[in-house]
Amino acid sequence: MNIILMGPPGAGKGTQAKKLVEEFGLTQISTGDLFRKAHAEQTDIGIIADYFTKFGRLVPDDVTNEMVTEYFKNNLKDMKNGFILDGYPRTIVQARELEFMAAHFGFKIDAVINLEIDPEILKARLSGRRTCRQCGTTFHIVYKPPRIEGVCDVCGGELYQRADENEEAVKARLDTYLKQTKPLIDYYQMKKELTNINGAQTMEDVYKDIKKCLEGKK
Ligand code: AP5
Ligand code: MG
Ligand code: ZN
Repeated sequence: MNIILMGPPGAGKGTQAKKLVEEFGLTQISTGDLFRKAHAEQTDIGIIADYFTKFGRLVPDDVTNEMVTEYFKNNLKDMKNGFILDGYPRTIVQARELEFMAAHFGFKIDAVINLEIDPEILKARLSGRRTCRQCGTTFHIVYKPPRIEGVCDVCGGELYQRADENEEAVKARLDTYLKQTKPLIDYYQMKKELTNINGAQTMEDVYKDIKKCLEGKK
């Protein structure tokens, strides 16, 4: 099963992707995580990406598409149970490139899921998020607190706040989403591939709806 998971910043893409990884052995492909890893390793892509991500802007399509293509080239053979694209595509140019990749590598997208949610809720989610530096699991100081403050429940790694979690960057990310990514929702809607899910529910209820959607696609 290959899934595209869409939604504005803080909608719960990473949270839900991790649940799908755990239950179904899917591979999570988060372009945001790949950019942050590249930045930590100071690769060429990481240096370019940091310039855009820290201001809440999208990394240029050609850089992003090349990174995803490389990722598929190197890892597709290991994705036995399929994959979840978390945060890719974010523009129509990227969606078209993904269609090209699907034809080239021989895979098919089974579901396009969009987590719908009010921007006001997103701000609270993002300001309270804590992310594990080691395994990437996300927590929330109110909605999903770790057992020990500052420590990941899963691997014991250190929890940190992302560089793009300050008020200004969050506002920019929401603006970017509305301008550049929202048109993609219409694109998938027009192609009759989109499933909208209410992302404002509890994590468990969102997950239930996602599973219902996937059941229907089998
Ligand atoms: P990326 O890392 O993808 O960030 P994002 O899209 O802004 O989304 P987030 O990761 O912030 O939110 P999420 O939806 O994963 O929510 P989460 O599950 O963590 O991208 C970062 C940057 O990289 C972009 O700004 C851009 O610059 C660049 N980039 C990435 N992809 C790109 C692309 N394709 N093209 C160009 N540039 C790209 O949840 C948030 C918090 O809420 C957590 O604390 C969680 O515990 C909590 N929470 C989750 N669900 C619930 C719930 N149901 N109820 C209560 N709390 C919840
Ligand atoms: Mg995420
Ligand atoms: Zn961890």
